[in-house]
Amino acid sequence: MKTDITAKELRNMWLGFFKDKGHTVISSASLIPDNDPTVLFTTAGMHPLVPYLLGEKHPGGTRLTDVQKCVRTGDIDDVGDASHCTFFEMLGNWSLGDYFKKEMIPWSYEFLTSEKYLGIDPERLAVTVFEGDSDCPRDEESADLWANAGIKRERIFYLPKEHNWWGPAGVTGPCGSDTEMFIDTGKPACCPECSPACHCGKYLEIWNDVFMQFNKTAEGKYEPLKQKNVDTGMGLERTLATLQGKKSVYETDVFKPIIGKIEEISGAKYGDSEEVTRAMRIIADHIRTSVFMIGDEKGVSPSNVDQGYILRRLLRRAIRFAKKLGIAVGQLASVAQVIVDEYKEVYTELSVNNERIINEINTEELRFEKTIASGEKEFEKVAHYLVGDTLSGKAAFRLYDTYGFPIEMTIELAQEKGLKVNVEDFNKAFAEHQAKSHAGAEQKFKGGLADNTEATARLHTATHLMHRALKTVLNDENANQKGSNITEERLRFDFTFPRPMTKEEIAEVERLVNEAIKADVEIVCEEMSVEEAKAQGAVGLFTQKYGEKVKVYTMGKFSKEICGGPHAKRTGELGKFRIVKEQSSSAGVRRIKAVLEN
Ligand code: ALA
Repeated sequence: MKTDITAKELRNMWLGFFKDKGHTVISSASLIPDNDPTVLFTTAGMHPLVPYLLGEKHPGGTRLTDVQKCVRTGDIDDVGDASHCTFFEMLGNWSLGDYFKKEMIPWSYEFLTSEKYLGIDPERLAVTVFEGDSDCPRDEESADLWANAGIKRERIFYLPKEHNWWGPAGVTGPCGSDTEMFIDTGKPACCPECSPACHCGKYLEIWNDVFMQFNKTAEGKYEPLKQKNVDTGMGLERTLATLQGKKSVYETDVFKPIIGKIEEISGAKYGDSEEVTRAMRIIADHIRTSVFMIGDEKGVSPSNVDQGYILRRLLRRAIRFAKKLGIAVGQLASVAQVIVDEYKEVYTELSVNNERIINEINTEELRFEKTIASGEKEFEKVAHYLVGDTLSGKAAFRLYDTYGFPIEMTIELAQEKGLKVNVEDFNKAFAEHQAKSHAGAEQKFKGGLADNTEATARLHTATHLMHRALKTVLNDENANQKGSNITEERLRFDFTFPRPMTKEEIAEVERLVNEAIKADVEIVCEEMSVEEAKAQGAVGLFTQKYGEKVKVYTMGKFSKEICGGPHAKRTGELGKFRIVKEQSSSAGVRRIKAVLEN
């Protein structure tokens, strides 16, 4: 087993293996999903590929591989334990209606066991397959393929949907049964039924092959997809920890320099005590995630809504734990710099945005300093007059609203005093506030995952026209897309611009878009290299690697943009375009909501 493999070696080994099997290496997509109202961040490698899993043609072909940046903040409170990270890299490969189980399982076996690759002893592997139910039959085919490859039958476990089914990431979308691969640590079985489903620590998951052949509909039905896909994912950090024999991801080469820097600025040592270890892990994780969010090609800034709120929570939690370790204000930026330096070769956007990353972190630290002093005083006051042991949701909301205290912080402060917080009431107050501030929260969990309805395709097409019109009317080629979120009812578009738009500018953007719609031009899609697209003046983030193929959508002379789709066929299909609202989204970023009317 490759016990001394580094993160860099594992990334290259993965991409090389799949390149040899005819896969095109594609770049990591942005951490901020496009046109997806159901999630705030890219949570898995398959996420940016949803349109292609549903049947759209990918310019890279039918076999793809990549290393995707991912953020999952659902388990933020678990950070500090051995294995949870809010940011991670997912190694992935895809078949878009190309190969299926009988190719994928032998390849997985080869990558895991061959001396040329990970060299894991098959006796130390265990796999799970889907046990079957009324939606999808028992996966004997995968079990046989594993057995033929060299996994003993007693190491093949059959498990239900709860364990061996993947997706959809949102409410609806592509999904299917999976087969998961585990390293057996050699620990004794926890019980006679011990299996990879136990989470007793005997089996550590390293890879998941999903056989995607269904689309889950809003009614909860599983419809067969047009094509059978494979979607696989291996978490880089967890796999490294397992291979390197480390108890925790934080002890791998990925985190070593980061923890080293935290030790240096705090004067404490990782492992000194449980408290110190936990604080260092939280700081390392949260600052790493913040660096990737701020440094993303669609750069997030701390704010009170959406992605910006998550970023603020992470930064403020890191700052709190830094304080506990006695780290002076202004020092966290040096941790961020170590992270930028470590990753910039793979994620070049971090170099491009280096200054912004440092500035945002320093600014948020100072901003938090100011609010924290008054907030803690307020907390003490509230706690002092408390009747019983539960802080009301209203009080928690006031701390949030007036003093910028994330609810998690209020809970932690309360816990330190042995108090509880009425989180349910806080959530209610928070939801009301969100609705009032029209922050878009009301739409966030509605609708489908990058759904392909005609209504969304039309709105998506209108987004292109509007993006171009904005640049023209505002006379600013840097009025770039920061995020786009489309439901069947409306489009929402965030872009970089320093001031509110005037009434006249809004009217002019509407006029230009409606003119392009009236011209009823055909929407032409072409595939070309990213350099060619740039040379033709296409709008795009241009984060793709040299030579990578992209799709370019052209609408007459009006708009040319790199995009994945889906689109209308002619601009004339769009109807009448109207901007409903133009407002601030975060510092230097404006947000437009617009609709198409008949
Ligand atoms: N989409 C699968 C996962 O994230 C591979 O586990």
